[in-house]
Amino acid sequence: MAKNIAVLGNGYVGLLAAVGLADFGNTCIGVDVNQQKIDSLNKGISPIYEPGVEEYLRRNLASGRLRFTTNAAEAIRMSQVLFITVGTPQMDNGDADLSFLKQVVETIAQNLNEYKVVVTKSTVPVGTNRWILETLTNAGFTAGIDFDVVSNPEFLREGRATQDFFHPDRTVIGCESPRAQAIMEDVYRALNLISVPFIWCDLETAELIKYASNAFLATKISFINEMANLAEAVGADIHQVAKAMGMDGRINPKFLHPGPGYGGSCFPKDTAALVHLGNKHRVPMRVVQSAIEANIKQKERMLDKLKLLVSWALHTDVDHIGSNPLEGKTIAVLGLAFKQETDDIRESPALDIVQGLLLSGAKVRAHDPKAMTNFSKIFPQVTYCTTAYDAVEEADVVMLLTEWNEYRSLDLDRIGRSVSHKIILDTRNILDPDDVLEKGFLYDGVGRGLIGKQVRMTHSPIHA
Ligand code: UGA
Repeated sequence: MAKNIAVLGNGYVGLLAAVGLADFGNTCIGVDVNQQKIDSLNKGISPIYEPGVEEYLRRNLASGRLRFTTNAAEAIRMSQVLFITVGTPQMDNGDADLSFLKQVVETIAQNLNEYKVVVTKSTVPVGTNRWILETLTNAGFTAGIDFDVVSNPEFLREGRATQDFFHPDRTVIGCESPRAQAIMEDVYRALNLISVPFIWCDLETAELIKYASNAFLATKISFINEMANLAEAVGADIHQVAKAMGMDGRINPKFLHPGPGYGGSCFPKDTAALVHLGNKHRVPMRVVQSAIEANIKQKERMLDKLKLLVSWALHTDVDHIGSNPLEGKTIAVLGLAFKQETDDIRESPALDIVQGLLLSGAKVRAHDPKAMTNFSKIFPQVTYCTTAYDAVEEADVVMLLTEWNEYRSLDLDRIGRSVSHKIILDTRNILDPDDVLEKGFLYDGVGRGLIGKQVRMTHSPIHA
């Protein structure tokens, strides 16, 4: 039987949960403190760019099974299942900031009018759901009302969130009561029908599954990035290395794509929180700590690569004390989002790289299909361009930072005519090196040993 659900917090995870659970046939009320956001959601306008989400939003608003409100108390009292989907941002010490979650739990405690299942979807440190249970037990005890607490971590990827919501690899539910289990089975009946595997476990196990999964993926990326750096040094091609590694079923080919370092609202925050949790329990997370450090270095390495490319092209000595090949140069930066198909720039490698370019005295002309508005709030001094071709106009060098599809088929002849030096650093390896080199560019990617090959091919640096 479909349920009445309140989704508390309508950021990324909350919005997807509200539209997705309504699409499963449940009746959902999305709750947020931001009136402007609620008004826009009720009109069917998504505050975030996520492919497909507006279609689901409009369809479910029209069905009458979905609405949004700022009235948390009313939504809680009317609903049997309460999903907590507030943000848990990173604090300076690496731990997750639970202040939004604590506010929501307090509001729930004040409005426990009958039996409810409280489901945490926000990523929370291990132990948080037990704390919610205890806090509500104290509140519920005085009111004499029963409830259950469930941990249901989210595995959505930005840019593919609708697909991930409706076709997850697995659904993890930390649940310690048969009554709550029966309700959660109803909430997710649609997934059961398509045979999605369900992992039923205790609260702490569910919480740790989320952190372990994100930390493992982040480690996999840092691993392949380091291997890519070694491939450059020894003259190997990382794509062939990754492909052959991935053919081993125990390794799997996914998340072996080298790049400028991972970003986004999850991996950097969740790896830091896991290290913090390990330290708290005196179990050092050395592997994850190394993955974090390698990721920081990877972003720095992209700037170093650019400096080397420019030095080589312009005959300047990068090792010469005080030499700064980027000073006074104009860099066309293509891509600002932390990955394609999102306007999200949180922890995007582009933030550190653009900052580094500006500190080196370079000017930046940037383009991104979706993320320029967000980026311009942090870097107003950058020139934002409506197309990739505008960005390269009068630029000295091109730096590709996000793997948007539209950058895969750029007209290289046109770019070659616009830039003053035919240099491209492709930090996502999305261009075909043969094509770019054939057009007379000096070109480098990540982990392909290209510069070594170009040096061997010609002794004279390439100029436009
Ligand atoms: C990640 C996880 O993939 C989701 O399962 C999880 O639900 C989510 O975090 C979360 O905790 O909410 P997301 O941050 O949206 O999802 O993006 P990913 O697709 O995982 O990419 C993260 C970063 O890794 C991006 O900067 C991406 O460019 C980079 N990446 C990814 C690589 O550099 N190489 C790869 O092979 C894959």
